[in-house]
Amino acid sequence: MNNIIIYGSHYGTTKQYAEELSRRTNIEAISFENVKEINDYDKIIYLGGLYAGGVLGMAKTLKKLNQLSNKTIILVTVGLADPTDEENVNNIRNNIKRQVQKEVFEKAKIFHLRGGIDYSKLKFAHKTMMKLLYNAVKNISQEKQTAENRAMIETYNKKVNFVDFSTLDKIINEI
Ligand SMILES: Cc1cc2nc3c(=O)[nH]c(=O)nc-3n(C[C@H](O)[C@H](O)[C@H](O)COP(=O)(O)O)c2cc1C
Repeated sequence: MNNIIIYGSHYGTTKQYAEELSRRTNIEAISFENVKEINDYDKIIYLGGLYAGGVLGMAKTLKKLNQLSNKTIILVTVGLADPTDEENVNNIRNNIKRQVQKEVFEKAKIFHLRGGIDYSKLKFAHKTMMKLLYNAVKNISQEKQTAENRAMIETYNKKVNFVDFSTLDKIINEI
């Protein structure tokens, strides 16, 4: 069996989860930018940070997959919004469905983890995006906010870290 952990991470929280998962499973972890031939692997565990609903690097990496029949695919998202919120999870899954081949989506086991953010480290474009988003949603009443908006409003301009390695246990069980 040829297994691989692939991650897409801008600021390191997804990379931290990927490296801890690698340590605990003895499966090599590499950034999506360094994947050479995705079809060489039997079991693919893809972890990606959530950026405006997209899973960083996932679509680009998995679109090269063919011959899916004997493959195992595990997809893991890392975001700020609460991964125990049903609406949030539904939104993430619907987005994934649009970003990958139908067979990949049907085959994949999907998990959701919580990352973190440090506004002092954000690139200019990301800071600008968050400011626009924040201004667009900050005056919506509490009851009407989505988990995604709530997480953004609560953490806006702050440094927060929700990384919790114990949440990897369910993924290790699946592997
Ligand atoms: C521009 C931008 C867009 C984001 N969009 C989302 C989002 O749609 N959903 C979410 O839960 N978190 C979102 N986040 C939060 C990131 O997913 C979170 O910071 C994650 O831990 C980043 O992973 P990384 O540190 O591996 O890059 C966003 C963050 C930034 C800066």
